[in-house]
Amino acid sequence: MRQAGRALPEYRRIRERHDLLAITHQPELCAEVTLQPLRRLGVDAAILFADIMTPLIAIGLDVRIVEHAGPVLEQPVRTEADLARLRPLEPDQDVPFVLETIRLVRQQLSPESALIGFAGAPFTLASYLVEGRASRTFEQTKRLMYSRPDLWDRLMSRLADVVATYLAAQARAGAQVLQLFDSWVGCLSPADYCRHVQPYSRGIFQSLQAHDVPTIHFGTDTGWLLAPMAEAGGSTIGVDWRVPLDAAWAAIGPERGIQGNLDPLTLLGPWPAVEEAARRVLDQAGGRPGHIFNLGHGLHPETPLDNLERLVELVHEIEPVRP
Ligand code: CP3
Repeated sequence: MRQAGRALPEYRRIRERHDLLAITHQPELCAEVTLQPLRRLGVDAAILFADIMTPLIAIGLDVRIVEHAGPVLEQPVRTEADLARLRPLEPDQDVPFVLETIRLVRQQLSPESALIGFAGAPFTLASYLVEGRASRTFEQTKRLMYSRPDLWDRLMSRLADVVATYLAAQARAGAQVLQLFDSWVGCLSPADYCRHVQPYSRGIFQSLQAHDVPTIHFGTDTGWLLAPMAEAGGSTIGVDWRVPLDAAWAAIGPERGIQGNLDPLTLLGPWPAVEEAARRVLDQAGGRPGHIFNLGHGLHPETPLDNLERLVELVHEIEPVRP
């Protein structure tokens, strides 16, 4: 989740002087920002500092990351002609700064900690490209999906290709886990997910098998999509708080891991409420191996640090990390 940007004063200090994309272009600074949450909070893994739009900006799309809004494109991708703007990614030329950041983080990371690389999933990326910005209703995205399935297929295929190439390069550079963020896929019906999204995400997970790294497949509001998302792939499935962890685990099957699923806004409440909610998540996981304790989505910027620190301590106390 967007852990670093949200609550850490040391991150905010760096952000006063550098915008988000500038940080990602400076591997030493970017490695430092990637490691900040681990140093401050003692979490077990670091997530690469980048944005889901990073590989798309790298192939030439004009995307700005706007504070409080997220990614914005002046020229959305909606027509046949627009597709030409999506060329294949050549990681060594296009995202050398990401690969260098990964190498630098790995040099500094202790053997008990892991570095998670990540990418946006084709649907979630497509939603930003087609809408031009964040959306609640995904009207333009769905309009394209329903009215031009041929164009949709070409858009999704190109994005899947960029994402698979990008993630494979991250694994080669040293990322030990790869997470695919399909954050907004919960706006779809199961039938539309299976027809218009699942094949492309499945292709990405299939291509990653050659790299032999564990993968996490994350979405929000995915209650009815959990089984088809698991079918698409991911050794672990990430879930938000709208579904009880035990029910989600039953839906994806015991052979998968599960990641989640504390509501990040519980952290705005008093500590006893945080503790109760965290204990509920752990109870539902029932001590079974394969649970990665995490928030169900990104951190609120005003999250009290104290709650975060105590949460990490509590989880470690109840569920010591097993090798
Ligand atoms: O935890 C981390 O900081 C790791 C790096 C990371 C960022 N974005 C940096 C960032 C990760 C893993 C992401 C993923 C991401 N970006 C997703 C998928 C996960 C999710 O939250 O659903 C999505 C949908 C995006 C697109 C995006 N970028 C959004 C929605 C926003 C938030 C806009 C806002 O200010 O509310 C961004 C900006 C962004 N990306 C920030 C960070 C740290 C915000 C803070 C800042 O500008 O410094």
